[in-house]
Amino acid sequence: MADFVGSVDQGTTSTRFMIFDHDGTEVARHQLEHEQIMPRSGWVEHNPLEIWERTSAVVQTALAKAGLTSSDLAAVGITNQRETTVVWDRRTGRPYGPAIVWQDTRTDRLASRLEQDGHGDVIREKAGLPPATYFSGGKIAWILENVPGVREAAERGDALFGTTDSWLVWQLTGGRRGGVHVTDVTNASRTMLMSLETLDWDDELLEIFGIPRAMLPDIRPSSVSDPYGTTLENGPFAGEVPITGVLGDQQAALVGQVCFSPGEAKNTYGTGNFLLLNTGTDLVRSKAGLLTTVAYQLGDDAPVYALEGSIAVTGSAVQWLRDQLGIISGAAQSEALARQVEDNGGVYFVPAFSGLFAPYWRSDARGAIVGLSRYNTNAHLARATLEAICFQSRDVAEAMRQDSGVAVDVLKVDGGVTENELCMQIQADVLGTTVSRPVVAETTALGAAYAAGLAVGFWESTDELRRNWQESKRWEPQWDDERREEAYGRWKKAVQRTLDWVEV
Ligand code: G3P
Repeated sequence: MADFVGSVDQGTTSTRFMIFDHDGTEVARHQLEHEQIMPRSGWVEHNPLEIWERTSAVVQTALAKAGLTSSDLAAVGITNQRETTVVWDRRTGRPYGPAIVWQDTRTDRLASRLEQDGHGDVIREKAGLPPATYFSGGKIAWILENVPGVREAAERGDALFGTTDSWLVWQLTGGRRGGVHVTDVTNASRTMLMSLETLDWDDELLEIFGIPRAMLPDIRPSSVSDPYGTTLENGPFAGEVPITGVLGDQQAALVGQVCFSPGEAKNTYGTGNFLLLNTGTDLVRSKAGLLTTVAYQLGDDAPVYALEGSIAVTGSAVQWLRDQLGIISGAAQSEALARQVEDNGGVYFVPAFSGLFAPYWRSDARGAIVGLSRYNTNAHLARATLEAICFQSRDVAEAMRQDSGVAVDVLKVDGGVTENELCMQIQADVLGTTVSRPVVAETTALGAAYAAGLAVGFWESTDELRRNWQESKRWEPQWDDERREEAYGRWKKAVQRTLDWVEV
């Protein structure tokens, strides 16, 4: 058997290809960003063709860097930004327009209408999701309604929908010359169109959104020994590699963090934060504002479910300090600036730029900075931004405790922001919980590699994967309970301001 497994990680801001060996150690990577297109307030788009070109380039470059060819890869996995919606023409391979990104709020009226028309409970019950702009169903409906000719093409089966995993698998397996149109259960569970029980597209949900079944991909497990498809000689891999793992990126991170037992959780710190708790084969329905989602399905095994707290804006609030306010020159500098002060100086920042996701689900909320006095400086704002990342995670952790009764003892963390040591210390302080970061911080790409490798016997079992996990650093809480609860109480008041703002 070949010695390595490859993994495409198609994220919100960039696409990377990584190659791992049997110990789960990174052998090579290459990464390229793509454009964030924001044509109007609340709209966020990507160019699907640019994403495909970037994917081709990162695959070729990483293989070249490692001095490897397709024959060195036992399998390839794909993981992706979830919910982001591409609709393309199977005959030409051309997208009907830009991809509508998960952060895009253009469907807010549709989302409120679903609730007003009494569809909210069915969607929550069947799909495990609240009606919100975040998920794909409304985005597909928007394209069907607003792009001329797409509805007819969709009904004929010529217009295809996919999240970016489907788009890339279709391209990698031949595109308009016979590309395979598939997705996996984790990605499908983010559309509002799949039943969590049957793991199939649900007629009632399709009817609510007016979406023709003919445009939807086949739903398969996240790890398949009968491959989704095989890469091509004349594609970026320049050879045939079976594609045997597909997972949405947050579920992939759960797998990369080897959270295979009920009660195990991870928090990924990227543009947003995503805290997932493995609930095993039990479908736990949230009463506290979390999502119920598929965590993974390995081959013929029963699906494993998760409760998820999705937070729209965390790392992107740090980018806002850099790009819009210009008070830092790079993400790393946020730590240095925040360290100039002992505490937040009374400042709380709620970065509700895309409304508030879990556990509030208020697309109309808008950001607020409260508690300012003339004494405050940039450093307090930088510190308040890091605290906002951590308080939002606490909001989600509280909801998880309510829904599941599980209080996580050690929170496994990953993602770019976990390099910010001050932020991780604040996270331990705000939660009152140990925070632990693994050696391989690229858990998303690793998780997709694990799913692909398990399918072909490159790894034998999830127990074997557990042995690959090693801690690089942990943070213990330093605040006492009084300080923790006082600070959190103030945060809750600040959140209330962002909700009151729109109600006035
Ligand atoms: O649900 C959205 C999530 O999958 C995006 O993750 O890491 O691409 O920002 P990321």
